[in-house]
Amino acid sequence: MKRAIVAAALALAAASAAKAYAPADWNLAAREKFADQRFGVFIHWGLYANYAQGEWYLQQGKLDREAYERMMYGFCPSKFDASEWVRVVKDAGAKYITITSRHHDGFSLWPTKADDGYNIMNTPFRRDILGELSKECDKAGLQLNFYYSLMDWHRADYPAGKVAKSVLGSQKGDYASYKKFMLAQIGELIDSYHPGNIWFDGEWEHVTLEKDGSYTRALDWEFDDIYDFIHARKTLVANNNHQPIRPKEDIQLFERDAPGENKTGFSEGQSVSDSCPLEQCDVIQKNVWGYRIGEKKFRTPEDVVAMIARAAAKNANLLMNIGPDGSGQFPRKAVEVMAEVGKWMRVNGESIYGTRAGGVSLGSHIVSTKKGDKLYLHFIDPGYQKAVFPIAAEIASAKYLATGKPAKVERTKSGDAVVTVARDGADKFDIVVELVLGK
Ligand code: GLC
Repeated sequence: MKRAIVAAALALAAASAAKAYAPADWNLAAREKFADQRFGVFIHWGLYANYAQGEWYLQQGKLDREAYERMMYGFCPSKFDASEWVRVVKDAGAKYITITSRHHDGFSLWPTKADDGYNIMNTPFRRDILGELSKECDKAGLQLNFYYSLMDWHRADYPAGKVAKSVLGSQKGDYASYKKFMLAQIGELIDSYHPGNIWFDGEWEHVTLEKDGSYTRALDWEFDDIYDFIHARKTLVANNNHQPIRPKEDIQLFERDAPGENKTGFSEGQSVSDSCPLEQCDVIQKNVWGYRIGEKKFRTPEDVVAMIARAAAKNANLLMNIGPDGSGQFPRKAVEVMAEVGKWMRVNGESIYGTRAGGVSLGSHIVSTKKGDKLYLHFIDPGYQKAVFPIAAEIASAKYLATGKPAKVERTKSGDAVVTVARDGADKFDIVVELVLGK
């Protein structure tokens, strides 16, 4: 009984907070623009690239922190070329890049003045990685966004949670000081490089999802202040906190799950927002975001295309990650995969960019997106060549998007539409049929 009252009071408080916050016009327009982009490339890069064991190596490898950090004096990625990264991303058909400005290890990729010197300017490289990337993105018309880790494995003022304490010991920290530092850095990032969004990660180390569905929080991050600070600079907020979206968060993130799924265990209890843009992030290498030298398993191009289409059919963007190596290059295999994805996107992109969920439900082998009076059927799985679905609207025409040739449409007696595709046996990619709907 008591619990019910508390829950009701909490729901009320949440409802009134949501009411109190009304996104400004610039914000709503930026959300739409973000949702229209539908495909982005995530980049995880930092000192850990030199260790070539993934971005959690300091913690998972149980390294001595100070020894790990000395890699700063040996970080000199001689092959780093922002224009080449941008070329690969753009050629893949992606519309934006989200890069780790600072990951959990606390190392910053730009010449920040807010920290104690643990940043790119104290490496032999001494170049502003984010600045160079930002310039190239501007030239190419790509949006740049910044991942920013809330969790920190470096600073003495960070209040260590479940994970960080394995690196820092159970230090209490000084959150007021840490927050001041974060705001100074975020201010620099926004003022210098004008990102579309700040993408937070790591809140989860202070949160526990209880059996009754409630969340226990060991640290009050004072997100209201942080989000207001970012919004005042006309930048969107995203938080990979594995929780339902909260007021003032503009984009709901799903880590390695399509919205509504929980295959990874990260999305438990995460209901799907029906008003905010959604973004699903995933990895091109198996189970790792930062570069791992022993990694042989990469996703295939048809797999990435299927993920893009399935995400779009659920109103979500796909943010596909690449981890460049210590020389500053994308793994060759990732470049090859992305080039093939780009070929598909150039022919079929119209069924992805600027679309929303198609509304007709067809399962996961065949999915749908829509834009204006067009409904796009994506025949993703080569084993499924016939889509049967109820639809009230008249189907004025149907064609294959790739060839422009007419596609076969029938109606059953009960009024269901039946769309059948012919598939060349060798083609494993999503085949898109465009239906123009009448009244
Ligand atoms: C997880 C990991 C992190 C990665 C992120 C990307 O939260 O901690 O390494 O950056 O997922 O979604």
